[in-house]
Amino acid sequence: MKNADFLTGITTSGTPHLGNYVGAIRPAVETSKNPRLVSYYFLADYHSLIKNHDPKLRKQSALEIAASWIALGLDYDNCVFYRQSDIPEIPELTWILTCLTAKGLMNRAHAYKATVADNEEQGHKDSDKGITMGLFSYPVLMAADILMFNARKVPVGKDQVQHLEMTRDIAARFNHVYKKLFILPEVVVDETSAVLAGLDGRKMSKSYHNYIPLFDTQKRLRKLIMKIKTNSLGPDEPKDPETCTLFSIYKAFASQSETKEMAERYRQGIAWGTMKLELFEYIDEILKAPRKRYEELIKNPSDIDEILKKGAMKAREFSVPFLEKIRETIGIQSLG
Ligand code: TRP
Repeated sequence: MKNADFLTGITTSGTPHLGNYVGAIRPAVETSKNPRLVSYYFLADYHSLIKNHDPKLRKQSALEIAASWIALGLDYDNCVFYRQSDIPEIPELTWILTCLTAKGLMNRAHAYKATVADNEEQGHKDSDKGITMGLFSYPVLMAADILMFNARKVPVGKDQVQHLEMTRDIAARFNHVYKKLFILPEVVVDETSAVLAGLDGRKMSKSYHNYIPLFDTQKRLRKLIMKIKTNSLGPDEPKDPETCTLFSIYKAFASQSETKEMAERYRQGIAWGTMKLELFEYIDEILKAPRKRYEELIKNPSDIDEILKKGAMKAREFSVPFLEKIRETIGIQSLG
């Protein structure tokens, strides 16, 4: 197995929604099919330990995320699709990297700093209240995910850019202290991939509870789309597509020419009820076949296990010998 041209992780918390699809899943599915690229996609279940302490929820989320990616067409034979927890080399590398990572670097991590700021704002005496070592040092685990496969490019959301900078720092530190083994990975923030608005018009996100799940029933999908906030303009009144949540969702799914046509209908004053119905029908058509596949997969989790186990075997073809090399480099080797 070759090192990764592309690698990205999906934290297994929550249920995949339309925003995840257009922002992360759709572009990854495209890349996964490219026969000239080696792309690694994994379920970051160790990362999910940081916030979520509910075993059932963790398992359910891993199942739903894996089933979603497969149902939406991930080419798991061409790419490497696995669970982080099936790769024991990752936690081992995490410790090796932890011992090269400056504490001061971790002090600057956004997720940690935001929690400290919250504590201070709420007047807690201990500004580290509720902060585990997992939360504090999680960028090291993420560095290990990436460096374990010497990934060249890492597609992530904007909120993860700092973690990639930290990964490069840590890799450079290793290369300097021991030997040049690691490629410094590049972050890829895809500005063209859509950021979807949610039910209330803010960015669609699990934390805002404003999301539309990808694979709910057809009836629920319809109900949620009908709930999307609009303004009070009546039928036949001209409407502005650019500030409309319905339009932004339509745009993320439709072709350029369809989008243009819809913008024209806005200017002519399409009624909100009509637009909602058309949006529902458009998305439902796209999700119909994957939904069926998803439902079958959820009923047969052992099929998913098998796909992930095969993926882990492929990944370990790289990580086992590479970790061996890392261990030798740092002097954890045969004493002879
Ligand atoms: N921390 C990332 C997120 O919350 C998920 C993740 C874990 C990841 N390990 C990774 C992304 C390695 C890219 C590469 O979105």
